[in-house]
Amino acid sequence: MSSRGLFITVEGIDGCGKSTQASLIACALEAAGHDVLRLREPGGVKISEKIRAVLLDPANGEMGDVCELLLYEAARAQLVHEVIRPALAAGKTVVCDRFYDSTTAYQAFADGLDRDMVARANELAVDGCRPDLTLVFDVSVEEASRRRSDRAAEDRLELKGLEFQHRVAAGFRAVAADEPGRVKLIDAGGPIAEVFSGVVAELRTAGMAVSEDDAAAALATLSAYQGKC
Ligand code: TMP
Repeated sequence: MSSRGLFITVEGIDGCGKSTQASLIACALEAAGHDVLRLREPGGVKISEKIRAVLLDPANGEMGDVCELLLYEAARAQLVHEVIRPALAAGKTVVCDRFYDSTTAYQAFADGLDRDMVARANELAVDGCRPDLTLVFDVSVEEASRRRSDRAAEDRLELKGLEFQHRVAAGFRAVAADEPGRVKLIDAGGPIAEVFSGVVAELRTAGMAVSEDDAAAALATLSAYQGKC
């Protein structure tokens, strides 16, 4: 009988560098022999990507907080149902860029929705499908904003401003403090390779056998991430 695969999520404020690190994690775990599925939230499957487009569209500025919460949960429920749960049951390692801790940080801590309501909505969407390990990439709001300035245009969430990002960052730190066994804070202020060495240390602590060669292979393919990993 095959055992359930590992479920890893990466989190942090916009511009923290988590997507690059998610690609590195996926590459390193593949090099270490895992069958890896790399996903993102909101999105990852057709229906959820359509919901993502509605959520991020700057033209939808009138969206209310509860509508927004339910759209994230709807996208998540579909992704869990269609891909994550079956993949884990098949023994795959799933690396997901954001998951329900983002909802806690953004919709509860930053938007001010009731935490218990958000927790219940999260549970409704995932129905017991929880990450084994969550890495929160902790970087100053100012540095993240500087990194984001390279991007072409800001989406609806990024347009909410720096005060909003400060509340999100505080939310992620609170999530890490609440569940220290599952959620690890990674100092993401340094260069990519330095941040990744902190990541590899956490993967090893969590029991994943990632060798120096696996980590180096991931870094070596850095320039090909978008297409290959
Ligand atoms: P991304 O830029 O990491 O792809 O995430 C898209 C945006 O969606 C980002 O600003 C964070 C936001 N978000 C929430 O507000 N709540 C959620 O539950 C998720 C998954 C994302």
